Amino acid sequence: MSKNKFIAYENVFDESTLRGLFNLSGQGYFDNIEGPISTGKESNVFTVQYKNEKRVVKIYRTSANFKKMYEYMKPDPRFSGMKGTKLSIIYTWAKKEYRNLLRAREKNVHVPMPYTVHKNILVMEYFDAPLLLYKAPKNPQDFYERLISELQKLFCAGLVHADISEYNILNDKEKPVLIDFSHALDLKYPHVQRLLQRDVHNLVVYFKKLGLKLDEEKEFMRIWTVKN
Ligand SMILES: Nc1ncnc2c1ncn2[C@@H]1O[C@H](COP(=O)(O)OP(=O)(O)OP(=O)(O)O)[C@@H](O)[C@H]1O
Ligand SMILES: [Mg+2]
Repeated sequence: MSKNKFIAYENVFDESTLRGLFNLSGQGYFDNIEGPISTGKESNVFTVQYKNEKRVVKIYRTSANFKKMYEYMKPDPRFSGMKGTKLSIIYTWAKKEYRNLLRAREKNVHVPMPYTVHKNILVMEYFDAPLLLYKAPKNPQDFYERLISELQKLFCAGLVHADISEYNILNDKEKPVLIDFSHALDLKYPHVQRLLQRDVHNLVVYFKKLGLKLDEEKEFMRIWTVKN
């Protein structure tokens, strides 16, 4: 990444994030920052140029609500016993999203390939696709069935997404891509059933509006009782 491009972001990120971005580009994970695609509650998402393609960097703001993150992470057996400073909690949160994405990929769930995580910065595959929120499926029944199949595969990978809605699903040429895995939880998490119920509820509400007839409990059971 050229020094000039780097300076352009001086006021956007803190010192340590800028250094992190510079290190990652030095290691060849991307060449240049292109521009922002989203400013979320806890993160900023940018596209970056990597050779002839685009990639995504998701940067958790160091001013994020780390207490909420900690509450969420504490009961997850993979991160239990974790204590530390505000920064280390935010770094662990980013690492959690990275690991969740990898685990989902291993079971062929349609999610962005994570390339690396460094401190509060996650580099992953870019999909040139709108959110489901902005592009409803042409064939809702077909899209819905594909989504259930993705959630079943995710469940077999030992994970529940826990933040599913039309805001965290891309419509990639009429196929769903699940994104935003920082909240995703291991099945050993105590409230996992309730969180899966909420995910299914959000989907059922969305697809009922598109005319599908769905029974929430039945749809929940299709995932909850799926066999590996
Ligand atoms: N891999 C990707 N490819 C294309 N667009 C993406 C990708 N990842 C994220 N986006 C875009 O960036 C937006 C924000 O990403 P994401 O949902 O992961 O973060 P967020 O909602 O800001 O998370 P948080 O609530 O934790 O701050 C998405 O709504 C989507 O438009
Ligand atoms: Mg999101």
